[in-house]
Amino acid sequence: MTATDRIPPIQVGIIGAAGYTGGELIRILLNHPDTHIAFAHSSSQGGKKVYDTHTDLLGDTELVFSDKPFAELAPLLSRNGVLFLCSGHGASKKFLAENPVPAHIRIIDLSTDFRDETDGFIYGLPELQRDSIRTAGKIANPGCFATGIQLTLLPLANAGLLNDEVHISAVTGSTGAGQALSATTHFSWRNNNLSVYKAFTHQHLKEITMNLKRLQQGFDQAIRFIPYRGDFTRGIISNVYTSFAGSLEDALNLYRSFYAGHPFTHVSDQPVDLKQVVNTNKVLLSLELHDGQLLITSVIDNLTKGASGQAVQNMNLLFGLPEDSGLRLKAPAF
Ligand SMILES: NC(=O)c1ccc[n+]([C@@H]2O[C@H](COP(=O)([O-])OP(=O)(O)OC[C@H]3O[C@@H](n4cnc5c(N)ncnc54)[C@H](OP(=O)(O)O)[C@@H]3O)[C@@H](O)[C@H]2O)c1
Repeated sequence: MTATDRIPPIQVGIIGAAGYTGGELIRILLNHPDTHIAFAHSSSQGGKKVYDTHTDLLGDTELVFSDKPFAELAPLLSRNGVLFLCSGHGASKKFLAENPVPAHIRIIDLSTDFRDETDGFIYGLPELQRDSIRTAGKIANPGCFATGIQLTLLPLANAGLLNDEVHISAVTGSTGAGQALSATTHFSWRNNNLSVYKAFTHQHLKEITMNLKRLQQGFDQAIRFIPYRGDFTRGIISNVYTSFAGSLEDALNLYRSFYAGHPFTHVSDQPVDLKQVVNTNKVLLSLELHDGQLLITSVIDNLTKGASGQAVQNMNLLFGLPEDSGLRLKAPAF
């Protein structure tokens, strides 16, 4: 390949770029070899430098947030264009109703609005449907808890082995709740604290159940999910257990063969922890078997594999790039 027939840079537009997922997308895309951020739209920060809001980006970009109408910005995406929607639940549906997006612009939505695959969206979990993502025009990026939890269960569902209740407890960092201050993200309350919320009713149960049914026809077992708020900023650890008739070796073989060829999802021989994955797009899984109960633990970063990193992974698949392009990121480790 010569320099002249190299794939031209992908032109990226971001809607809702001042929030946590928007900022994380900018951080990743500034270092992606094949993308150019054509615009970063923000209703709240229009006219300000991106580093005035995402202050760690001082020295990395002189990009300015735009608050121009989308119709004026869309021509910037006329060639190899992709639009990321980062404004939040309900806002994506409203934006698309008010702003027709030309059909040649690919869309990746980070909200829950299209995760039921309505309006031509494909659910963007590469470990579940990488081939459908490659040919899609519109991607519904999975939820953060939904990503961490589904990756503990897909190999069992794929083998038709989910034949008992599934029990889940999972803890998320405070960035999962977005940039706006609230009582439950206030430092004084959250620091040195742990709390349960939306027990048995969390909204991500819907997409988890949809996809387990997709792999295991007739799946009708209860999924008992207790989400926790943790007192750290990034990451989700999910502990999931259910009945399993085989040996631990059978389970490890099942998981390793299901995830073979997926660059970010790995099965560990040792217990896993958040510092192995924070700031990366990795998912690490560990398995234990006790009295016929298989415990699968997953760790992810809610803002990378749980949101913006996975969105870039989906973009790479949409544009025929290596799946891990721009996503070889470094964990803190300590
Ligand atoms: N946070 C996560 O870990 C995570 C993981 C997976 C999925 N998601 C989903 O992704 C979507 C966006 O989540 P998010 O965490 O990015 O939400 P967020 O941080 O709360 O940002 C949401 C929007 O708030 C607006 N905003 C208003 N005033 C602002 C200000 N002063 N500073 C910065 N932003 C301001 C921004 O839009 P303007 O730029 O237009 O002002 C931004 O897009 C949601 O649907 C969420 O559920 C989030």
